[in-house]
Formats: sequence, structure tokens, C-alpha cells
Amino acid sequence: MNPVEEKESPVQKYGSDQDTDYFDCGEDSINSFLKKNAVVNQKRGVSQIFCLRENVDGVGKPVIGYYTLSAAAIPSSGVDREIIKGVPLGYDAPVILLGRIGIDKRHQGKGHGEFLLMDALERAMNASNDLGVVGVVLDALNEDVASWYQSYGFITLDESKMFIPMKAIKALFR
Ligand SMILES: CC(C)(COP(=O)(O)OP(=O)(O)OC[C@H]1O[C@@H](n2cnc3c(N)ncnc32)[C@H](O)[C@@H]1OP(=O)(O)O)[C@@H](O)C(=O)NCCC(=O)NCCS
Repeated sequence: MNPVEEKESPVQKYGSDQDTDYFDCGEDSINSFLKKNAVVNQKRGVSQIFCLRENVDGVGKPVIGYYTLSAAAIPSSGVDREIIKGVPLGYDAPVILLGRIGIDKRHQGKGHGEFLLMDALERAMNASNDLGVVGVVLDALNEDVASWYQSYGFITLDESKMFIPMKAIKALFR
């Protein structure tokens, strides 16, 4: 799998040529973010949004799925020192937040979720060459989805917060 963005990549930054009208991943907050907040959010630099689109001709390519990335920090207290090695004691650990990820219900269970998750992790790994980050963090919506993330190497930090260290991300792409 090599989801690095190129002209031909099916994963593109959110833009006006994407059709989000029919997007429904089954989670209202993830649907409404894409339809109502994505434009402003991206414009203001709060998060960057990446979409997997259907490969159809013309403008208005339907969105199959999307994810968002932002810079974030997690308190290093209470986190196993081994996984945030190098972060000075008492300082927050710099991370990338995978804020949202969703696949349209009609396309779920076909590997698109894994593809987008890997794309997000690879993008975070590449960003870590230019920006100090020790891993990727997210809030799992529920226990089922937490087990999905665990299968890729995420560990639970507290009730819903999950984390994958950069070292583990790099190992996924070796
Ligand atoms: C979670 C989600 C992104 C996965 O996308 P997907 O394209 O369906 O996943 P894939 O096809 O790549 O992977 C399918 C595998 O993941 C498992 N899986 C998918 N969604 C899951 C979930 N919510 N809970 C537990 N396991 C899940 C499937 O059982 C399947 O396992 P199998 O291959 O052993 O059969 C998608 O189901 C979705 O958009 N859910 C609603 C929004 C959501 O919960 N987002 C996460 C917010 S934290």
C-alpha cells in the first residue's frame, strides 16, 4: 500500500470539487462536520481534511470517506515514559490529532477505513520530519471502534483517548 499523495492519488485535500451531500457514515457528528464545518475549519487552519473520493468523471466527486489532522499536545504526566521517551518531564508531548475518520455506510467493510487510516498515519510520519511529534492521538467513539484501532497498534491512554507512538507508525511502513 502506498497512499502517498500524487496527482493520481484517490486521497485529496478537501475542496470544492467534492460532493458531500450524500455522505453518511452512521455517526451524526462525523457527517455534519464534513457538511457544515469542514470548509471553515480548513480555511482557519484548525484542521486539514483529506477525502477519499469516488473515481468518476466530472466535478462533484462523491466522498467515500474522510479524515482530519491537527497539531495537538497531550499531558505527559500519567503516560508511560517508555512511549513518550525524550519528552522533558512536566512538558506536554507534541502529537498529531486524528480528529475524525468516517467511511460512507455504502462503502464500509471494503478496506477503505484501513486505507484512510494508513494514509493518515503515513502523512503524520512524513510530517514528523519537519515538525516534532511523538505519535498520533485520537478519541475513540466507542469500545468497538477502539478495538479496530488497537488492531493497528493504538494503545489506550485513558477512557477514550488512544495513542500510537511514531516508532510504531514507522514500523507499519518498513
Ligand atoms: C470505523 C470505520 C472508519 C471503518 O471503516 P471500514 O471501511 O468499514 O473498515 P475496513 O473495511 O477498513 O475494515 C473492516 C474491518 O474493521 C472492523 N470494523 C470496522 N468498523 C468497526 C467498528 N466500528 N468497530 C469494530 N470493528 C470495526 C470490521 O469488523 C472489519 O474487520 P474484518 O476485516 O476482520 O472483518 C467505519 O466503520 C466508520 O466510518 N464508522 C462510523 C464512524 C466512526 O465510528 N468513526 C471512528 C471515530 S473514532
